[in-house]
Amino acid sequence: MEGLAIAYTSLSVPVDTKAVLCCPPILLTTVVVATWEITFRDNSSCTRAYRRDNNETKDSNCTDTRITWVSRPDQNPALQIDPVATTHDGNYTCEMVTPNGNFRHGYYLQVLVPPEVTLFQSGNGTAVCKAAAGKPAAQISWTPEGTCVTEQEHWDNGTVTVQSTCSWEGHHVPNVSCSVSHVTGNKSLSLALGPGVGILGFPESSLLIILCMKFSLFLIILVIVVKRINDCRKE
Ligand SMILES: *[C@@H]1O[C@H](CO)[C@@H](O)[C@H](O)[C@H]1NC(C)=O
Ligand SMILES: *[C@@H]1O[C@H](CO)[C@@H](O)[C@H](O)[C@H]1NC(C)=O
Ligand SMILES: *[C@@H]1O[C@H](CO)[C@@H](O)[C@H](O)[C@H]1NC(C)=O
Ligand SMILES: *[C@@H]1O[C@H](CO)[C@@H](O)[C@H](O)[C@H]1NC(C)=O
Ligand SMILES: *[C@@H]1O[C@H](CO)[C@@H](O)[C@H](O)[C@H]1NC(C)=O
Repeated sequence: MEGLAIAYTSLSVPVDTKAVLCCPPILLTTVVVATWEITFRDNSSCTRAYRRDNNETKDSNCTDTRITWVSRPDQNPALQIDPVATTHDGNYTCEMVTPNGNFRHGYYLQVLVPPEVTLFQSGNGTAVCKAAAGKPAAQISWTPEGTCVTEQEHWDNGTVTVQSTCSWEGHHVPNVSCSVSHVTGNKSLSLALGPGVGILGFPESSLLIILCMKFSLFLIILVIVVKRINDCRKE
């Protein structure tokens, strides 16, 4: 019986980046055939093979132009995905056939998408924190803890929108903050709970921009006023 060595790796890659998947580290001159077998999340599949004896590549069902050999397969049979999209979730296996046996390296590829995080007031003593279209689903927590309802919405592309609506009504909580934890990075937003309904949630950067704009406007008005005063004095 021939030897068969298999290794499997879980691989998480951020969407819109470039991924390179390597074959087992086998001396290329001994390889008879190198094959990539891909099964996507929707169960569709694609095979890409290189035969050394006639130096030929062969594809079947590989229509996605973002999945290619990293270079000439007679030099390096690694696979490249550029750019990575949510449809690229799946199992990727490189099999190398050699006179000494077959060698395989499999990858479970999971595409990561950072969620879009927003926080806003939705009523008296109530706020909504939303982590939209993240992959995998994000987790939301609040400071201070309130009475919360969390909903999830699953999209066709594998992303999930998580929305947490919390109420602190009657507890006189002036400020709340929402923490979103996700493999692509954590994020925290704060909100001053005003009375009644309002949409007051901004990421800190937006608040800074608004502050800067207000300050610039203030400066402009100041300059105009000073100029007016000076003009008056001249008369
Ligand atoms: C893919 O196939 C597996 C088993 O062969 C099945 O359990 C799964 O539901 C299928 N998924 C889709 C999206 O068709
Ligand atoms: C294999 O084919 C490529 C072009 O398809 C050629 O550039 C390369 O030199 C060939 N390699 C060998 C070892 O014959
Ligand atoms: C996934 O689908 C949702 C809903 O259609 C969309 O808002 C989001 O931008 C999509 N994300 C990616 C990475 O394709
Ligand atoms: C908001 O809730 C507080 C406490 O429950 C109450 O005193 C206040 O009148 C409410 N304000 C509005 C605008 O409903
Ligand atoms: C994100 O938050 C989670 C739990 O809230 C924590 O376990 C993890 O270490 C944090 N990750 C980073 C990169 O800060």
